[in-house]
Parts: sequence; C-alpha cells; structure tokens
Amino acid sequence: MHEHDVIVVGGGGAGLRAAIAASEEGADTAIVSKLHPVRSHTGAAEGGINAALREGDSWQDHAYDTMKGSDFLGDAPAIETLVKDAPEEVINLEHWGMPFSREDDGRVSQRPFGGLSFPRTTYAGAETGHHLLHTMYQQAMKHGIQVYDEWHVSELAVTDHEDPSDRRCHGIVAYDVKTGTVEGFKANRGVILATGGPGQVYEHTTNAVSNTGDGYAMAYRAGVPLEDMEFVQFHPTTLPSTGVLISEGVRGEGGILYNEKGERFMFEHGYANNEGELASRDVVARAELTEVNQGRGVEDEYVHLDMRHLGEERILDRLENILHLAEDFEGVDGLVEPMPVKPGQHYEMGGIETDENGETCIEGLYAAGECACVSVHGSNRLGGNALPELIVFGKRAGHHAAGKDMKEAEITTGYTDECEPGDVDSPVEPGAVDTKSGDVAADGSGELTDPQAVVERTVEHERDRVQTFLDKDEGVQHAAIREDLQDSMTANVNVFRNEEGLKTALEDIREARERYQDVYVDDPSRTFNTDLLHTMETRNLIDLAEAITLGALAREEFRGAHWRQEYQERRDDEWLKHTLLRWNDGTPELFYKPVILEGENKTYEPTVRSY
Ligand code: FUM
Repeated sequence: MHEHDVIVVGGGGAGLRAAIAASEEGADTAIVSKLHPVRSHTGAAEGGINAALREGDSWQDHAYDTMKGSDFLGDAPAIETLVKDAPEEVINLEHWGMPFSREDDGRVSQRPFGGLSFPRTTYAGAETGHHLLHTMYQQAMKHGIQVYDEWHVSELAVTDHEDPSDRRCHGIVAYDVKTGTVEGFKANRGVILATGGPGQVYEHTTNAVSNTGDGYAMAYRAGVPLEDMEFVQFHPTTLPSTGVLISEGVRGEGGILYNEKGERFMFEHGYANNEGELASRDVVARAELTEVNQGRGVEDEYVHLDMRHLGEERILDRLENILHLAEDFEGVDGLVEPMPVKPGQHYEMGGIETDENGETCIEGLYAAGECACVSVHGSNRLGGNALPELIVFGKRAGHHAAGKDMKEAEITTGYTDECEPGDVDSPVEPGAVDTKSGDVAADGSGELTDPQAVVERTVEHERDRVQTFLDKDEGVQHAAIREDLQDSMTANVNVFRNEEGLKTALEDIREARERYQDVYVDDPSRTFNTDLLHTMETRNLIDLAEAITLGALAREEFRGAHWRQEYQERRDDEWLKHTLLRWNDGTPELFYKPVILEGENKTYEPTVRSY
C-alpha cells in the first residue's frame, strides 16, 4: 500500500496548485492522475484568468460582475474570497515564470470578456491553460511532489458511518493503467479531488475524452452532496463538427457574430442591446440557438464568428491558436472567412459541495477546481473565472489538508439545520439497480475505523469489481451505453429544457443503469486496457447524468443557464437556494440550502439581469 500525508487526485490546474500548497506546508504530497499532469484538460483552456489588477478596477467590481453573472445563485463569501485572492495568485504565477501576454510598457495584458464591467482577463495568447499547466508542473517538480500518472482513481476509502457527515476519508483506490493492478493509497492528512469536469456526459462538448467526472461520482457515492448540478454551461463558440473551443477571447478582441442573413443578431434582434457579443455566456448561447431555431442559422445548424476585421497582425499576436484550430478541425482560414460556431457543453457550474477551504462534509476529503462547488459560479460562470478558481481554491484546499491554520469557513456543508428536504417527480426509480454495488458505506455500522483496514476493504471491493468485468465474456459494451446516454443528454438536457425531455432523459438514464449491470470488457489484457478504463468511467457518467437531470427537473424556474419552457421567470421567492443531491445507500436524496448573499460589507440584492 502506498502512503502519503496528502493525496491529490488529478494533475490539472487545481490539482497542481493544491499539491504545491500542501507541500509548502511540509506535507509529503502525491498526485495520482489518470493522465500525465501536462496532458490534463486545463491545457485546453484558452481565454484567460480574471483578476482585478489595474487602476480603475477593484475586487468589489469583480465580485459584483460574478454575482450578477451567477444570476444571484453564487455564495458571497466564496465569490469575495475568489476575487480578493485572484490578483495575488496571478502575480505569483508571473513570478513562477508564466509567460503572460504583455503590453509594450511591460504590464501584463488584460482583455474584455463576457459579463465583465472592466477588461480584467489576463492571458497568454489563446493558450493560457497550456502555459498555466507547464508553469505549475515545474513548481511541482521543484517541490519534489511524487506523481503517479496513468493511475485511474476508482473509489474513495471512507468509513461507513450511517450519517455521511460522521464519515472519514482515509485514502483512495486506484487502477494502474500500465499494469492493470489495483492498489490502495493511504492518506494520513487528506485526499483532495481535483478531477475536472464531466463533459463526456454530452455528445457535443469542448471537454477531452478523459473528462468523465470521476471525482464527482466518487464523492457522491461516498455520501457527499453534489450541489447545483443542473447548471451546465454551454459555450457559445465551439466548432460544429468536433466541439473544439473557439475562445471567448475572439469576441473579447472584437470578433462579431452574424446569422445566415448577415445580421449582427445580438444587437439587431435585441438579445443584449448593451453588451452584444460580450453578454454572459448563457445569454449568447440561447441567442444563437434561437437564431437557428427561427430559421436564421447557417445550414440550419450554426452561426458565423468573424474576426477578419481585427487584422492579421493582431490576430497572430493574440489569437494565433484560434487560426490553427479553425484550420485543423474545420478547414476554415479565419483570416479570410468567418468561422462556423455553435453552443457546446463546456463547464459544469455545480459540483462536490465544499466550503471556502475546500473541505467537504466528510472529514479528510476535499475538492477543488471544476469538480468542486464552493459556490462561485451559481447558475452561470463568467468566462475567465475558472482559472482563478483553480488557483485560489486549489491553494486553499492544499493548505487546509496539510494542516495549516485557516480562518473558519462561513459556508456550511452536509445536511444542516438550514437545509430543507426536496422532492422530484421522477418517472423512474433513480439510483442504483443493485444497491450493494458501488456503495461506499458497506453496512452502516461505522465499526471499521482503522485507516489501513478501511483502505484495504475498498481495495478488495475494487479488485473484485475489476475481476468481474474481465471474467465476463459476453454482455453489453460500455461504448453502446455511453453513446446512448450522451445522445439523450444532448437531446433532452441541453440549453433549452422542458419537463417531457427531462423525464425522457431520466428514463434513458435508468435504462443505461440497467444495461450497465450486464456490461463486459472485450479486451482481457491487463496492460493499457482502455476498454476496462472506459467501462469504469461509464458508471460515473451515468451517476452524473442522473444528478444533472434530477436537479433540472426539480428546479421549476429559469435562472442563468437553466432555461425551462414551463417556467419563464427567475423565482427568487422560492428558488434562491442551492440544489443538493446525495447518494446514501444507493438512493439519491434531494435537499436544498439557502444562497448566501451577505458579503463582507454589503448584501448583493438580486436585480433584473440584463446585458
Ligand atoms: O472561451 C474561453 O477561452 C474559455 C474560457 C473559460 O471558459 O473561462
């Protein structure tokens, strides 16, 4: 069995930052990741990092923009922590050697991004995430952090007390993709989940094939609530044939959206009379799809994003990567023709419920980055706010897990007195088919508390599970289940939603769950068995699809990225609350907790949100 003080699951931006922070506090720290860290999906982040760095800007303005962007579903203590810590973190990155784009006078460049009242997005060309990863990986190496790459973490080793808030996380179990062995990792101080997003729940996504939401699903099965999962961000500018991201930086630099008639529809059709293309993402994505649905889309599918007028010099200086992406994936030369774009799944606003120090309701278990929900994004994230979230909350989680004394968090986690039970009219029974499979709390007795024994028990469970997949020689292949799931989510739980579609999706998810009982792995080998790896991941996708869809069906209002045909208004009287869904003994349990609008010096009063 491997043993470290702090184990970070995932080697992307949040994971690297958490590991560096834990190591700074003297903890023996390891990263366990199914990818080499510099292949993590943070590397695909293009546009930039928001931070109030310049004269004329302030953390207060950044906080207000973020709260408005969230459609007043973000928690003020989390948002204020983000915006206050972001400038120092950006300067720290610069000191670590991050090659930010700069002005002629040497200052770090900043550009406009959607929903921002000040051009506060720092960037490194249109490859900001790539440079961020490499900069932090170098620091991780400098700190001597041990990296177990090509290890897929499949389950958390958690005690089995009946109430999840009484449980304690003692480590993880991981599958070595290179050799096919399953091994335990004991964490003496804490486990930090930093596994990125769940984009593979959808067919058309900017997310890499590795983004299967493993951290969310493991935490969920361990009894940690998933928060606000119904709020899925669809980025307005993705390439139609692949889902590859075309950065919001193009619109930040002045790129214009046109419909098939050549109309600048954001203004001409009144979607955002002030901000136009730089309205918030939810607004622009709905506008584009409305154009297509009303017959003004190009080839009935997409719209055009034009950057030709910016000129070759500026494009090559600030957006060169975009030229390559459009050429390589769509065969379009962005210098001479407009690029085809349409909305695609990009980001999950919800996630593993944490407080400002990254702690979950299970002692010793933390989460940071996209897989966490602290909550800074509420029902709609502003572009450029994901990367500061990684570094700010990754660092905090790393410090706390390593034992640093920190200010007590204001945000509460788990089922507290403030929570109210929820109800959802699902057409099928949600949750496990076989309640014994994949349930962390084995018998609820809470008797097994020795850390080593808790890890060993989970190792045995996972070894049996893997062996069962390999022993079977017929059944359903994961790819068929995954494809049907992705198709249903794309058709029914997309930008526009209605009750009928959401119920259809729940029926399809139930069917996927039942078919998964019969899943088998065709490749019997133990070495680089990606068939087995994807089979394990597919279970996570099913759990997450269900969490997203149940939350969406239950939330009877239109807020941020969650549009409902039957409910065309934001309903603050009833819905100014976070959705929480936790899996206990195989049954998803729905409850709610109030949003915190009280900040340090002000209360953020919900107003009509327009751009
Ligand atoms: O459009 C982009 O470059 C993406 C940025 C983000 O999601 O924050």
